Amino acid sequence: MALVTTKEMFAKALKNDYAIGAFNVNNMEIIQGIVAGAQAENTSLILQVSAGARKYANPTYLTKLVEAAIIDTGLDIALHLDHGEDFEICKQCVDGGFTSVMIDGSKYDLEENIRLTKQVVEYAHDKGVVVEAELGKLAGVEDNIKVDARSATFTDPEEAAYFVEKTGVDSLAIAIGTSHGAYKFKGEPYLDFERLKKIHSLIPDTPLVLHGASTVLPEFVKACNDFGGDIPGAQGVPEEMIKEATKYGICKVNIDTDLRLAMTASIRKYLAENPADFDPRKYLGPARTAIQDMVQHKIKNVLNASNIK
Ligand code: G3H
Ligand code: 13P
Ligand code: ZN
Repeated sequence: MALVTTKEMFAKALKNDYAIGAFNVNNMEIIQGIVAGAQAENTSLILQVSAGARKYANPTYLTKLVEAAIIDTGLDIALHLDHGEDFEICKQCVDGGFTSVMIDGSKYDLEENIRLTKQVVEYAHDKGVVVEAELGKLAGVEDNIKVDARSATFTDPEEAAYFVEKTGVDSLAIAIGTSHGAYKFKGEPYLDFERLKKIHSLIPDTPLVLHGASTVLPEFVKACNDFGGDIPGAQGVPEEMIKEATKYGICKVNIDTDLRLAMTASIRKYLAENPADFDPRKYLGPARTAIQDMVQHKIKNVLNASNIK
């Protein structure tokens, strides 16, 4: 039972073709739902905090809630900064007790991304904290019309090998066709598996990370919409594709949107069916269970990570 880095989790995942779920957290019910899901599946877990989550909830509250989850469940949990945009936020998280930070220098050119990542790696490693970096740009849905144009921003395999060697980073987020949010593809979903295989073959010991990996299950979009939502045209990454990616070095799968949809669908339904109710526990309780169910589904059926401790 501990707050751990991702080192051991990834080493095992890499060898055994499964992935650790990295779920975004913003408040107590979300943390409790995720942790209950991981506990039921007897697996390790990454809880990740974005800059927006830090701003919303205050990092001290989130850190203490994660500590409480560890005491309560005995799970191995890594506390990770999601999309750190500069050295300062990474430093604050390292100093504040996170065990893993992401420095996202993907918007910079290669040399600047290397410089920034190296700076974070040196600081973090000195304090026993691991670092994820990103190379390549996650596509926006508008780029999906032309796969060629879209793939121009995907991670270059040779560059990935050079980047890892130069920075000493612990894991690498790559761009192979996923994107953040509920609108990932306009046409047929497409992930560049040949590129993934090439990257994995050049850096077989580097755990790879898939951002934007929510599936946006139609029944949850429908459930949101049935109770007054308006989420047209949402489309995520098919679960089979995520599952397939875990065979080629993807060790960390980032999921936020699917939890948001599960939580929102549950709250919308409850409030629509119980319009006279105003006790937050009445709708946050089922929402927490909806998150737990989604997390269990992902761990078991998509990430292949049940009972791996
Ligand atoms: O990749 C982004 C995550 O979904 C976090 O989103 O920045 O709205 O907290 P956020
Ligand atoms: P989704 O938007 O697909 O859930 O991705 C979340 C993510 O990549 C967080 O870093
Ligand atoms: Zn992301």
